Amino acid sequence: MSSLAGLDSSHFRLPGTHVPGFPVLPLRGSRHRSTSVSPGLEERHSLLRDLNHFFLFPVRKRRATLDVPGVGARVMEVTACGDPVQSRFLRRLLKLRVMAFPINRLRRLRRTETLRALVRETRLTPESFVYPLFICPGTGIRKEVRSMPGVFNVSVDEAVKEVRETRALGVLSVILFGLPEKKDEVATGAWEEDGIVQRAARAIKREVRDVLVMGDVCLCEYMSHGHCGIVKAAPQALGAPKGTKKTMAISARGPAEKKKAIEEMAESIARAAIQPEYEIVNDASLELLARTSVSLARSGVDIIAPSDMMDGRVGAIRAALDQVGFENTPILSYAAKFSSGFYGPFREAADSAPQFGDRRSYQMDPANIREAMREIELDVEEGADMIMVKPAMPYLDVIAAARERFDLPLAAYQVSGEYAMIEAAARNQWIDRERVMMESLLCIRRAGASIILTYYAKEAAKLLA
Ligand code: PBG
Repeated sequence: MSSLAGLDSSHFRLPGTHVPGFPVLPLRGSRHRSTSVSPGLEERHSLLRDLNHFFLFPVRKRRATLDVPGVGARVMEVTACGDPVQSRFLRRLLKLRVMAFPINRLRRLRRTETLRALVRETRLTPESFVYPLFICPGTGIRKEVRSMPGVFNVSVDEAVKEVRETRALGVLSVILFGLPEKKDEVATGAWEEDGIVQRAARAIKREVRDVLVMGDVCLCEYMSHGHCGIVKAAPQALGAPKGTKKTMAISARGPAEKKKAIEEMAESIARAAIQPEYEIVNDASLELLARTSVSLARSGVDIIAPSDMMDGRVGAIRAALDQVGFENTPILSYAAKFSSGFYGPFREAADSAPQFGDRRSYQMDPANIREAMREIELDVEEGADMIMVKPAMPYLDVIAAARERFDLPLAAYQVSGEYAMIEAAARNQWIDRERVMMESLLCIRRAGASIILTYYAKEAAKLLA
């Protein structure tokens, strides 16, 4: 069936049979001559394009209307054709199934939920979710995070209960973040044997069967300054002693002098903003990250997930794990982690906000997708077993590009800000909470992530059951 049905070659006037007085748009005939009888999509399109040209000019007096989908309705004038090459082209043209309305109606398969379920391309499963847990000191503690309703800081005993519940819902994995008792300049809480996450991991692995415990490896939660690596004063900061400009402004006498002093002060602040007075030291931080990873593996953590964004950390962690016999512990690398405003609520949950500056010198610029591919590539070379893109929803293009390019299991982190936005809008009754929750997860999956870290893991699993 075709909207060209009922027409045969006698109805067409082909290019080349020129009628004086009318412009003839040439067909790329030579290409059509050599192609096979059953046209592919590409050729189909080219035929339709030519058809469009072809029907642009009137010939003789007989008129007919032809609907060519994707080309538009054309009034054409037709005539017979004797040329064998052109006839062959026409025969093929007439065989062409024009795939469009009214023959094709995509709504046919959308009519009922059973039909929709049959043809659904993407599905969510609880096993692909990873549930984040924030472990705090104490016992019996469940403290709700202000900016993340439904998410709690939990003590080790409560964490075990959470994991039991999560596991019962079919979610197989959790990822642990820690709120240590004390913070310092070398992130002791991250790597000490009795660290908060180490304790939680031991308890969870002891109490719950068949659960995967991931350990987020980062230093920000354990550093007094809240950065993900070791901080040292940058060389350019070793200039004039601080406070001189300020003193000048205060002690300045006349208004002109005062204005000048204030201007100078503003300038020095601007300069300091452009050239930070501190540096997050890369290579020295690797040692702490490696030490943390080994300590986590020793406490029973199944998968090491570095999120710090120091260069070379996957390689350093891999080497350190292998050295002490953890060559079978996989690394899920937060490979393309962007410097994002969407981490805001997490920093409240994990008490990990940087005390000065921001994370732009180590996390990625949100503008860069090519650089994200390089980040992933390097992590793969260094031995990452799985890769992650984070955040998820604003970075679906990065997820899709990573899926296209790399064959490792791909994870995406639906971060705290994504969760908080949905929660806030739902509380205002501006959106349907469950619907948006499931849609957001489905779309992250559709973009190409097979593993999703999400604060909705438990609730989504309940809805999928
Ligand atoms: C630690 C880390 C962060 C997140 C995961 N690991 C915060 C950050 O980088 O500032 C964010 C997770 C979320 O927002 O849900 N570096």
